[in-house]
Amino acid sequence: PAPGWATEADVVVVGSGVAGLTVALRCAAAGAKVTVVTKARLDDGSTRWAQGGIAAALGEGDTPEQHLDDTLVAGAGLCDEQAVRALVTEGPDAVRRLIATGARFDADDATGEILLTREGGHHRRRIAHAGGDATGAEISRALVDAVRAAGIETVENALVLDLLRDGSGRAAGVTLHVMGEGQRDGVGAVSADAVVLATGGMGQIFSATTNPAVSTGDGVALALRAGAEISDLEFVQFHPTVLWLGPEAEGQQPLVSEAVRGEGAHLVDADGVRFMLGQHELAELAPRDIVAKGIMRRMGERGAEHMYLDARHFGAEMWERRFPTILAACRAHGIDPVTEPIPVAPAAHYASGGVRTDLRGRTTVPGLYACGEVACTGVHGANRLASNSLLEGLVFAERIAEDITAESEPAGPGSAGTESAGPESSGAVSAGAGGRERPAGRTGPSAPAASPASPAASGDAPLLASEARYEIQHIMTHGAGVLRSAESLARAADRLERVQDDAAAQLRRDGKTAEPGVETWEATNLHLVARVLVAAALRREETRGCHWREDRPERDDAAWRRHLLVTLRPDGA
Ligand code: SIN
Repeated sequence: PAPGWATEADVVVVGSGVAGLTVALRCAAAGAKVTVVTKARLDDGSTRWAQGGIAAALGEGDTPEQHLDDTLVAGAGLCDEQAVRALVTEGPDAVRRLIATGARFDADDATGEILLTREGGHHRRRIAHAGGDATGAEISRALVDAVRAAGIETVENALVLDLLRDGSGRAAGVTLHVMGEGQRDGVGAVSADAVVLATGGMGQIFSATTNPAVSTGDGVALALRAGAEISDLEFVQFHPTVLWLGPEAEGQQPLVSEAVRGEGAHLVDADGVRFMLGQHELAELAPRDIVAKGIMRRMGERGAEHMYLDARHFGAEMWERRFPTILAACRAHGIDPVTEPIPVAPAAHYASGGVRTDLRGRTTVPGLYACGEVACTGVHGANRLASNSLLEGLVFAERIAEDITAESEPAGPGSAGTESAGPESSGAVSAGAGGRERPAGRTGPSAPAASPASPAASGDAPLLASEARYEIQHIMTHGAGVLRSAESLARAADRLERVQDDAAAQLRRDGKTAEPGVETWEATNLHLVARVLVAAALRREETRGCHWREDRPERDDAAWRRHLLVTLRPDGA
């Protein structure tokens, strides 16, 4: 649809989690006119739900080098070491700047030292937390307050649709669908010299997830339609310990933070046996993929629908002081962790892949940046290390702001060293290793926004009805969940194609698609992202990190120590 209203900025930031708001604050501090657009309220994204904390080598005896080692091990051979090095070396100061911005972390009353906990895959206590287990809520509060105090323009209830391009193909803004914001209601456009995608994740492609309802892969879908390169989408992390609320539970589920295991909780089966002992030197604190697999295996052996997390030994005082959010969530569902083990099972949690960027957050489309969960900077590889995501959002937001506000001409990630692996049903899927730093170059100063595209117009994909969301979630949970195989993935690909064929048939029959609106655009975005994810998961014929192929149970470094890159062809295939 043609925009009904328009506004201008130097920088438009799409999304309002730790990544988006940090970019906005740093760009505004450097004098740029910034507009932040966000799908719901400013504090409605994933950041607010983060429990455990933010990882950084802040503790005595800890070093960025040790943090780097743990991150590389968790990433199972696919991390970009340069990106990880930037993360871990710049991380401690980035956290200090976050504290200077107003975030209050838990600290020792006597010494004022920040208290640090442990989580899976970390060999040291290096996770800073706030409000016990409400770290994300505190970070979100501090950043929202700072954005408001800085007078940065914000547009809430604004679902991003597509990228605007100038005559040279450079990003020149975004189109949006806004609801309930007065003069800005309806489809509109923000034109800007730089566009920063910070839209978060895509957990809602699965039935049960720790992600909020807004996490529908909008940024990855936009980037695909804009022709940007996407990488590592097959690596969806399933958090091992999500409160189990029954086999039919759908949508956002309560997380039981790894920090609970970091403080000494045990994973047990129905007989009270600690089944992670002997599976890994870190037992319950092994990297997340190993714990999730351990739980799934035990569930399979026992024919059980969940396992248990036993932290009764913490006692009431520790539960109330250290994990008040989790305690309240469990009690709200009739479980008292002080007196009984908590039923837990893995659920979709984090997209390790996303829109491919270089070390300054630049995508393969000039002028388009990606930051936070929507991005694939290379720091997570095949499996993100716990609590590295808030840190990634902070560190790379600062790098992006520096790039945007610097005088020098930036470049984008190259594809040198990539090797074409042939087209798949989702489009051109190519596999390669390295080549993340080849400059693409800015193509000249931006001209006025010239060519908005709507999802319906992109690739001839008809807008899907809002109910398609549930069908997609069902297909993905059964075909591309924690356990995958060539057969389950091929079935998922067929069924996803049928969802689109049905919508196309309806278009031919009735002459119209579903009504444009947030829910139909979300369903359409979920579908596009799901198709690409399934194609990548089918293509990667091995088990690595959080990609677990039952039919290919081994890691295959000779054939698969490389990345799958995806771009959408102009016809949308
Ligand atoms: C948790 O608290 O377990 C989540 C931390 C994370 O996903 O990094």
